[in-house]
Amino acid sequence: MLKIGNIEMKNQVVLAPMAGVCNSAFRLTVKEFGAGLVCAEMVSDKGIVLKNAKTMNMLYIDEREKPLSLQIFGGEKKTLVEAAQFVDKNTNADIIDINMGCPVPKITKCDAGAKWLLDPDKIYEMVSAVVDAVEKPVTVKMRMGWDEDHIFAVKNAQAVERAGGQAIALHGRTRVQMYEGKANWDIIKEVKQSINIPLIGNGDVQTPQDAKRMLDETGCDGVMIGRAALGNPWMIYRTVQFLKTGKLMGEPSVREKMDVCILHLDRLIALKNEDVAVREMRKHAAWYLKGVKGNAKVRNAINECNTRDHMVTLLNDMVADVEEKESQVTVG
Ligand SMILES: Cc1cc2nc3c(=O)[nH]c(=O)nc-3n(C[C@H](O)[C@H](O)[C@H](O)COP(=O)(O)O)c2cc1C
Repeated sequence: MLKIGNIEMKNQVVLAPMAGVCNSAFRLTVKEFGAGLVCAEMVSDKGIVLKNAKTMNMLYIDEREKPLSLQIFGGEKKTLVEAAQFVDKNTNADIIDINMGCPVPKITKCDAGAKWLLDPDKIYEMVSAVVDAVEKPVTVKMRMGWDEDHIFAVKNAQAVERAGGQAIALHGRTRVQMYEGKANWDIIKEVKQSINIPLIGNGDVQTPQDAKRMLDETGCDGVMIGRAALGNPWMIYRTVQFLKTGKLMGEPSVREKMDVCILHLDRLIALKNEDVAVREMRKHAAWYLKGVKGNAKVRNAINECNTRDHMVTLLNDMVADVEEKESQVTVG
């Protein structure tokens, strides 16, 4: 089982942190589909230190989401430590995670995110400082390296362990790869064999069978799922069930998909406000609609939509359409 510090997860399936996606509305929904651990989207250390209003809202956690890991990012020790202390004392997160994988230039230019991957000594120094300053367990999420010529995954992971980090999530890509190419699972196996703290494998788990294969092939302690869960919390449920029973559950119906999409929308409205939530929900709705036959028209309409009622009507009309066509096929 996956255990981080003294927090025991009910299974090995972890929702990846995803900026612009993993707020409380989505996390709670995924949690209800059985995730052992959910991770929040990355939050800026400076935003926390300056008590930026938008950043403060990002720290909201519903008790029902727990156990939850809250991720911070930053490039300077002072602000990173201060932010970690704030999260430690003022939020109900169970774990404080440090981002060491974000590849975007806006972040790496500030010596944050994946930039750390070039310097195991800095990793040791920064992680130690955070660990010493807080009570909650500290973990790190990292990529395997900066580029093909700088893959320090083993050294970097060992630095995290020496510094008192309680677990690592490893995405088997370099910073330069961004999301291209295939995630390297061999490096996950190599890192697992070189540390004694739990390792969560990440990268290209697209099906429940992939999750099992990652656990079996790398020996990692948990499996982290990102893109495959977008608009698809069933991926989490089906993975949990597959790992538990070896049986593969069926895919949800269009009605089930849209019901959860609407629940997600309503939670987002409660969290933000209707205007912001509906705009944000457009991309999620497109993900929920993935694989639904003939969805182009409704996706276009959703992209123009500004109110909850309009979005819900579009989704319900589409379900009615699909169900009518299905009944015609059955009758015919
Ligand atoms: C939209 C999006 C946002 C992401 N934001 C974060 C983030 O805030 N923090 C982080 O550590 N990784 C972030 N990632 C990386 C994912 O956590 C994960 O490592 C990556 O998607 C690979 O896993 P996957 O193949 O299961 O998607 C993000 C990925 C995506 C697609």
